[in-house]
Amino acid sequence: MMFSSKKRQRGTLNREQKKRRLFLFTVILAIAILFGDYHSTIASSVGKETLTMITSPDYPPYEFYETKDGERKIVGFDIDIANYIKKELGFKLKIAQSDFNGLIPALQANRADFVMAGMTPTPQRRENVDFSIIYYEAQDTIVASKSSNLTKPEDLSGKIVGVQLGTIQEQNAKQIAEKVPNIKLKQLNKVPEIVQEIKAGRIDAAIVEDTVALGFVKANPDLQFNVIPSIENASGSAIAFPKGSQLVKPFNDVLQKMKNNGELERLSKKWFSANLTEEPLSTNSPPAASKGLNLDFRRIIPDIPFILKGIPLTLSFTLSSVFLGLFWGTALSFFKISGIKPLGWFANVYTSIFRGTPLLLQLSLVYFATPQLTGYDISAFQAGVFTFTLNSGAYMSETIRGGIQAVDKGQFEAAMSMGVSYPMMMWDIILPQALKNILPALVNETIGLLKDSSLVATIGVVEILRSAQIVGANKYIYFEPLLFAGLIYYVLVMGLSFAASALERKLRRSD
Ligand code: ARG
Repeated sequence: MMFSSKKRQRGTLNREQKKRRLFLFTVILAIAILFGDYHSTIASSVGKETLTMITSPDYPPYEFYETKDGERKIVGFDIDIANYIKKELGFKLKIAQSDFNGLIPALQANRADFVMAGMTPTPQRRENVDFSIIYYEAQDTIVASKSSNLTKPEDLSGKIVGVQLGTIQEQNAKQIAEKVPNIKLKQLNKVPEIVQEIKAGRIDAAIVEDTVALGFVKANPDLQFNVIPSIENASGSAIAFPKGSQLVKPFNDVLQKMKNNGELERLSKKWFSANLTEEPLSTNSPPAASKGLNLDFRRIIPDIPFILKGIPLTLSFTLSSVFLGLFWGTALSFFKISGIKPLGWFANVYTSIFRGTPLLLQLSLVYFATPQLTGYDISAFQAGVFTFTLNSGAYMSETIRGGIQAVDKGQFEAAMSMGVSYPMMMWDIILPQALKNILPALVNETIGLLKDSSLVATIGVVEILRSAQIVGANKYIYFEPLLFAGLIYYVLVMGLSFAASALERKLRRSD
């Protein structure tokens, strides 16, 4: 608003008030969305009637997503066992998910009551968690392209070998590397990524356990796998619990019962031998051939509704973070120009820390450390919004500060001479003009946040990118779902830019 005529001033004030009301309403809505929903991925603690199991559903046939009619569901050998135990012990089961290397931290942070993820009880892990008895023994294999002839550990000399980060296969590969010279390890987050890297020729081979290797080799006929005989039972699976958990004993009793009554045998036949004879899991069209990209988008058509479901989540995440970040950034910018030294220092140190460290690092810290530090079981969604608010607040504070300082001095003087109080002057006169001027910068920030929101996939929020990864893992394909996700992001960003330029035009006209 500018100082021109009195009449205009009153009219503008009303409009400003309306705009402010709308703004406040949107913020309250954002907060409501933030704290209202999305608790579905958080865990409960031991002793409740509902127990939370956490898993890493990138590991068919142990656990993977099945998408049917746009609905996703985690299914697999481990899930069937968990459901059997649930019936036997009479609790309700909630299933949460994360990358494999986040599972033990999740137990330690009390986000889950137990882990079932084809996890092998190793001595190092035993230091941090308790394990049930082993319910399935598996062996490690070398997966490589058929033409490569890499079948034995000795063949791996001078080669690049892929493993899943934080798994026993990573350790076993290291063991092999002690004996076989010149092996270079490459750690990746998910098994499907490892397979993709072999196909791309960026790694020569991978260490993967037998039942899992089987599924991937069936879906990719140019690959082969060979059991490594020297590492025996290298990959037995057991259930992991937080240290000292009361659940170990009752769970062991049920597992033992399942061994005795043949239920385990039946389930392993169902998941592991079906895998041997039939088409690869959920893959209903032929796999891509070895050379070239060979894109075939028909393969993801049934999964499109599922990927699209990530959109509202990505949008509500981005908008909540932008609005809260705008508030926080405005507060910080006031600290900076307030002339009160401690406030200024605080805001400057704050900004330098949040601009000086990676967003991904901040995100993992907030997500994993909050329950331990405060006892509050922050959900992945909340952790995401909180981190993005803190982070974008730092960036926005600089933009807003610049915007405020660029407002014509005359505006300050006119307001003062009319006896408008400082807060009123800022809120009514200076800030609206500053915001109008920095609108393009704020739009840039929003676009950045929209795309960076894909980072929350790493802590398990199933937004657009994560949905695409899930579809990829499920179908043993890689590029089609990712390209589709890229297209969605692009359309969203275009829509956003379009809306922003319309808003900008409108604001200019109302000058
Ligand atoms: N058995 C191996 C381990 O404990 C690999 C398990 C990987 N599981 C998964 N869901 N990705 O290290």
